[in-house]
Amino acid sequence: MDFIFDTHAHYNDKAFNEDRTDLLGSFTESGILGLINCGTDIEESKKSIILSEEFDFIYSAVGFHPEEISKANENYLSEIERLASHKKCVAIGEIGLDYYWTKDNKEEQKRIFTEQILLAKKLKLPVIIHSRDAHNDTLEILKKYKPQGVLHCFSGSVEIMKEIVKLGMYIGLGGAVTFKNARVPLEVAENVPLDRLLLETDCPYMSPVPYRGKRNQSTYISFIAEKIAEARNLSKEEILAAANENAFRLFNISSKSNS
Ligand code: NI
Repeated sequence: MDFIFDTHAHYNDKAFNEDRTDLLGSFTESGILGLINCGTDIEESKKSIILSEEFDFIYSAVGFHPEEISKANENYLSEIERLASHKKCVAIGEIGLDYYWTKDNKEEQKRIFTEQILLAKKLKLPVIIHSRDAHNDTLEILKKYKPQGVLHCFSGSVEIMKEIVKLGMYIGLGGAVTFKNARVPLEVAENVPLDRLLLETDCPYMSPVPYRGKRNQSTYISFIAEKIAEARNLSKEEILAAANENAFRLFNISSKSNS
């Protein structure tokens, strides 16, 4: 059995409506040590917290995803702060910049991203960052404010990965490393320092081969770890052990479960 910590999941998604409780209930027996369910707006963040209250091994992240910021009202930051005070909340996320879907609100995206980074720093929580087609602006903001955290579903080059690592941040890798055309993600997987690697599903999306196109779930991280292990000439167990240790360190999990 593989021991897995999934650092990025969305189990509130409607894709899990039919069997959510059964599936999550089966996870402790299939080696899932823990998972972080990420919010994308206030409602989803609240649902993440509720899920983390139902299952010991589920932790939550709360925040506004860049594609959802039109819903952020003037009180959004204090609402996130209130949710973040929950004992199972381990991060602010997912937050960031996405210029793939929307380019006409870049300044607004940057403002809300920055405000949430500053909140995370004030609360001494790490951030979970989404960055799509926006690596330069993301990097500029990270260099300026230097939060702790992870670039989730990292899609940048090895050069950008090195800049992120230099800032003391982590690189989250998922199903993309198993895809047939995965040259750049695999290069990143080969070169990322082992103490900066996190594994994630982003489920229900981003299923690794052989489940590509199907609904993703935390146990499939085995296929991601296997692929990275192959690329680095290590065992799958070594990759999983390193990534799990990194997740516990970044998200301060042991002290959370004792509190
Ligand atoms: Ni996500």
